Amino acid sequence: MKDHYRTFFGFTKEPFATDIGYKEILETPELLNVKIRFEYVPRLGAVGVLTGEVGSGKSTAVRYALNTLHPSEYRPVYITASSGSIMEFYRQLKDALDIHLSTNSKSFMLKTIKQEIANLVCEKKRKVVLVVDEASLIRLEVFAELHTLCQFEQDAKPWLPMILVGQTLLADKLTFRSSQPLASRVVAKCHLEGVDLAEMKAYLQHHLALAGVDGNPFDPTALTAIHQGSGGLFRKANHLARGGLIAAAAEQSNIICAEHIRLAATEIF
Ligand SMILES: Nc1ncnc2c1ncn2[C@@H]1O[C@H](COP(=O)(O)OP(=O)(O)OP(=O)(O)O)[C@@H](O)[C@H]1O
Ligand SMILES: [Mg+2]
Repeated sequence: MKDHYRTFFGFTKEPFATDIGYKEILETPELLNVKIRFEYVPRLGAVGVLTGEVGSGKSTAVRYALNTLHPSEYRPVYITASSGSIMEFYRQLKDALDIHLSTNSKSFMLKTIKQEIANLVCEKKRKVVLVVDEASLIRLEVFAELHTLCQFEQDAKPWLPMILVGQTLLADKLTFRSSQPLASRVVAKCHLEGVDLAEMKAYLQHHLALAGVDGNPFDPTALTAIHQGSGGLFRKANHLARGGLIAAAAEQSNIICAEHIRLAATEIF
């Protein structure tokens, strides 16, 4: 019974859960770097890029940074990109802006979206920030057109700052010649990598405390195994740590060692 570990270790809720609240996010140095760029990019009305390995904490960093923007001042617009056409992208953006429009005309769609952005900025005095998660999925031909969204008043008004978030491939796509108009607007880049051993220890401790356990049941060999097995990446570390807890509880062991983590590793990719 896999749930047995929760009572065995005395957790008050699921440890290493994905649905942690904004206030439960661990403020790592990398997160603060992202936050600084989230203030800087909108101020300039430019484009920012956040890349990182799968499960390194990109979306969490975005959530954290967006929550620090004051809602009366900012109007964050968050979309998760797809590998679809530019029209698909506009449709997602239109929905995120609460625009009720049904048209197959690309130019009309773009015009309506830009009117709404101009309205938010000029009439409602809000700073719009477009965040595009999973932007590494965006096709090259979509990147080639995306800069037109940011052009207002003959490109004199930077009313739509944009933060593109995605896997490392995103940076490669932006180096293509066709992406140059968009890439030339980038003023800040940030890359999230796997954390070091000390940061991983703090991360695990943080998640244990969130679930109601103050001590640290992971012995040093388990910590090293989680760090090495995950490459310092948070999502994989979550799975290894939880799997280690399950394996140890099955043996009635209060301490998790490297062997428990190795067992957990056989269950995940
Ligand atoms: N600073 C943090 N504090 C607490 N938990 C975190 C933090 N950063 C990441 N996590 C946790 O790590 C897991 C992976 O994070 P996240 O989904 O943000 O990664 P990602 O880089 O966006 O992944 P993907 O490449 O799949 O989009 C999540 O369960 C999240 O809750
Ligand atoms: Mg993500």
